[in-house]
Amino acid sequence: MCSQTQSESSYLQEMEFFVPVFSLFLSLVSCASSDPITEPLRLCMTTQLSYNTEASTIIHTSNSSSYSSILISSEQNPRWLNSTSKPLLILTPFNESEIRAAVLCSRKCGIQIRVRSGGHDYEGLSYLCKTPFIIIDMINFKSIDVNIADETAWVQSGATLGELYYSIGKKSDVHGFPAGICPTVGIGGHFSGGGFGTLVRKHGLAADHVIDAVLIDANGKIMNRETMGEDLFWAIRGGGGASFGIIVSWKIKLVQVPKVVTGFTVSKLISQDGGSLVNRWQYIADRFHEDLFMRVILQNVGSGGQKQVQADFNSLYLGGIDTLMPLMKQSFPELGLEEKDCIEMSWVQSAQYFAGYKKEQPLEVLLSREALYKSNFKGKSDFVTNPIPEIGLQGIWERFMQEQLVFMILDPYGGKMAEISEFEIPFPHRKGNIYNIQYIVKWDVNEASEAGKHMYWMDMLYRYMKPYVSNSPRGAYINYKDLELGTNNRGTNTSYMEASSWGRKYFKNNFKRLAVVKSRVDPHNFFRNEQSIPPFRVLSGS
Ligand code: FDA
Repeated sequence: MCSQTQSESSYLQEMEFFVPVFSLFLSLVSCASSDPITEPLRLCMTTQLSYNTEASTIIHTSNSSSYSSILISSEQNPRWLNSTSKPLLILTPFNESEIRAAVLCSRKCGIQIRVRSGGHDYEGLSYLCKTPFIIIDMINFKSIDVNIADETAWVQSGATLGELYYSIGKKSDVHGFPAGICPTVGIGGHFSGGGFGTLVRKHGLAADHVIDAVLIDANGKIMNRETMGEDLFWAIRGGGGASFGIIVSWKIKLVQVPKVVTGFTVSKLISQDGGSLVNRWQYIADRFHEDLFMRVILQNVGSGGQKQVQADFNSLYLGGIDTLMPLMKQSFPELGLEEKDCIEMSWVQSAQYFAGYKKEQPLEVLLSREALYKSNFKGKSDFVTNPIPEIGLQGIWERFMQEQLVFMILDPYGGKMAEISEFEIPFPHRKGNIYNIQYIVKWDVNEASEAGKHMYWMDMLYRYMKPYVSNSPRGAYINYKDLELGTNNRGTNTSYMEASSWGRKYFKNNFKRLAVVKSRVDPHNFFRNEQSIPPFRVLSGS
């Protein structure tokens, strides 16, 4: 899966930067020395960068005191903490030349790269690999430059959503950005896969608002939108991270938000009127006024004989209570929303509210990289195009009662999402989708041995849901990565056809176009992981 490609050495010959100086260096430094991997890599980096990387702070070997703390610093799923798959080195570059050197030297030495921005990958693919690998951790690429005059910002991949929201909120109370809800999520992985949150119905995805980017490809070439070409620029906005190169930074277009927005959460037990409200919600969630985002968080609460399923109607309205109340009376009176349930705030405070912080807490909580809730988990996703019948919902409630800690988060689409073509960027789940489902089962960090039981439950629920969700293909969201859908388990020989089994779930008809772009920009599949885009030319057997 992460092994060196057969044609890797010949590929090196094609590298554009393969100037005479480097060529001389390659002949001097062998990758088969006493420390067969890390030492040649370090030497290569030293030569590339013209300074002694041994003395630098960017290379962390397993002997460095910093290695373990950096390794676990942004891992968001403790499920992988005890994995035996550990990087040979962790690199924490400060500038583009250092990333470029790391790419070129890893190729030279036949080592795989895992790029990590925020570390939230559901399957740990930014820090796990089955064959020798290094991590390029983007922690030092976290600058954010907000320009209110032209309503844009440059944000580096290692920044978090919380840092972006904070930076925007500090400069303007009438601007925002439509991205995910959890502030610790990294920009690099999130924008690469699409990215949606409370502004999704009004403005679409984060990737819909990317207008430029800086990327380093497998040849070490540093490119922006103009130099990378529109096909690659299309692919990195939703085609998933880690397939095309390392994205260093993104230029985004900000959106306008009202000075006052309103948040509310109404919780109902399914055994009371919660079940019928969830059913009703399915018929209207994508048709509400686009200023209203109302998601449903289903979870089991209580324990033993007291166990119940609860539905939280968790909402953001882009306006004040005065206009929200009549809107709710008209579009969802059954919920019985009252003024006392509502909290007015600024948009940036709503980012805090949805992250689980209180409005009164300082805005700086958005800068914390420590997740509020961290436990072992398995996630999956689906898209719903027709309301699930009541009998179908009933089966979900029954299955919830069989597990300890499970969630289904139903995120409404419609609005702007229905207006954007499914081919505009690689993320294809647009018109016709009422809502997205994210399934999560969690278990205690100390219960590693219980993983199989919870995975089995998740598999059972996913099978049960099949008749009720999108089909041909059954859709899935790349940012809720799910290796149970299938993997590139034959490494570089994975054919486009084999990968289609999971690739079409994430990207539908855009999968082929992504594979074609991949063939052009990384034909030897240097940037790869278990669910990266394979080059299309493998299909034709060339
Ligand atoms: P991470 O660093 O793990 O990277 C994810 C993938 O992208 C990996 O394959 C990695 O190699 C690659 N990658 C990372 N940086 C790269 C770079 N600079 N260049 C190229 N490839 C790169 N999603 C959503 O849409 N809305 C939401 O509200 C949430 N909320 C949420 C909460 C929590 C707690 C979690 C764990 C996840 C979410 N997500 C989400 C999902 C999230 O968008 C998804 O996991 C992103 O890929 C995470 O990006 P990170 O940079 O944090 O992950």
